[in-house]
Amino acid sequence: MKLDARVLPDLVSLSRAVLEETFPIIQEAVTKRGKFAIALSGGHTPGKMYSLWAQTEQYRNKTPWDRVHLFWSDERFVPADDPRSNYRMARETLISQVPIPAENVHPMPTNLSSPEECARAYETELLKFFGSEPPAFDVQLLGIGDEGHTASLFPGSPALGEKVRWVAAVRVAAEPPQRITLTPVVLNQGRNTFFLVAGEGKRAILSAIRDELASKPSQYPAARIHPAREPVWFLDQAAAG
Ligand code: 6PG
Repeated sequence: MKLDARVLPDLVSLSRAVLEETFPIIQEAVTKRGKFAIALSGGHTPGKMYSLWAQTEQYRNKTPWDRVHLFWSDERFVPADDPRSNYRMARETLISQVPIPAENVHPMPTNLSSPEECARAYETELLKFFGSEPPAFDVQLLGIGDEGHTASLFPGSPALGEKVRWVAAVRVAAEPPQRITLTPVVLNQGRNTFFLVAGEGKRAILSAIRDELASKPSQYPAARIHPAREPVWFLDQAAAG
């Protein structure tokens, strides 16, 4: 399967490239719809992009923060101050550093009695913002795990076949096992999808995806996300090999 890949020398230039690609999209979304909605991903890779967004004057100052709405593509079922929380990572690197209004930050809740209840509450939050059609994020950031998962859609997960729900509670073979994730119903609507992939550890999964036949559905969840505008894969040199 062919990937639309951009190879950058390192994580800093990869993160800058994603930001450069994002700014015209922010402008267009604000002009057309008055707001810009981005789904952030967790893991380690996007942290550099978040901190460059907050710390680089040029990026920080040209962002219309009152028009920017932050959502998440997945979350671990842990308290918001837990070191494993995806929200916490974005709060520390980005949210607490920029003048974004609190009501523009839409984390996945993790403080309800079960992950299922959290998933339902997030679906309601998305409905309020996007209306009744499945959400189309202006930008959705995604990553890939060594075994091909993206967001918290792991190989073999029933959530991969979801046709109705926008958000699912899942149990995964990773730490922590209880998670909340956007489903393909939403991820296949994204207006722009950027995979951020860095480090030598990602080489094997990238070549496994590239070796698959495009005619069959991929066995790797990350390669099953096919919105109208195909994903762009931002790779650092170490991941690209
Ligand atoms: C999560 C993520 C997940 C992540 C990949 C890659 O909550 O774990 O959203 O899908 O993007 O596991 O993670 P790294 O960037 O740490 O390699």
